[in-house]
Amino acid sequence: MIISANFKANHTRKSVASYFTQLSDFIATKETKSEIIVFPPFTTLPETKPKGFKAGAQNGYPAEKGAYTGEICLDQLTDCGVDTILVGHSERRHVLKESQEFIARKFEFFKRHNFTILYCVGEPIEIRQKGIESVMAYIEKQFEGIDTSYTNLVLAYEPVWAIGTGLSATVDDIEEVHMSLRKGLECPILYGGSVNLANCKEILQSPSVDGVLIGGFSLQVEDFCKVIAIAEEIV
Ligand code: PGA
Repeated sequence: MIISANFKANHTRKSVASYFTQLSDFIATKETKSEIIVFPPFTTLPETKPKGFKAGAQNGYPAEKGAYTGEICLDQLTDCGVDTILVGHSERRHVLKESQEFIARKFEFFKRHNFTILYCVGEPIEIRQKGIESVMAYIEKQFEGIDTSYTNLVLAYEPVWAIGTGLSATVDDIEEVHMSLRKGLECPILYGGSVNLANCKEILQSPSVDGVLIGGFSLQVEDFCKVIAIAEEIV
């Protein structure tokens, strides 16, 4: 099971330091078997010392270094000990307007550098309303230029309409998409989109789900640890 947390632009160096200490203690005390990955903001990466779990980058520019004002490249990420990255998150696609072509370039670059890539796909509400065939056709396009046989690939199905809305997909919705994705893929498939304490058990119990990517509900370490504890009962 992979239990991951995406802080987005939340938390500061101080709060992440205390979060990481508590999370490490929890993992050590419970001897958890799940793989835990946290994606904190860039500014917190140099100082955070994850123990028993990984800290990954929420983004990265596909270059080793250079004239890319405002971006973080490979040199800066490896300097922080990072070897895991989120690519294709819906907020990068829809809010920051990243194209599939650029996302694929990013994927290729970080693949070449052996990063574990947590690659996100998912449909907006207007596509979901058209039914499962439209959903799968939409997701198919998000695989353009993506090497789905990459060894260090983790896929996250995150319907856009479920992200940050409090409206999670139902287990039936998730299973339908995951089973369809599973046909051509060997990698773990996570679900993300309004995962919380009330729905995580049912979601994690689905044989089609290998873990979760949690945004809002991961922000309090106590909540995130509760989800990990539930995952531990299932593995
Ligand atoms: P959410 O975010 O859990 O707040 O819906 C999930 C994500 O964006 O990965």
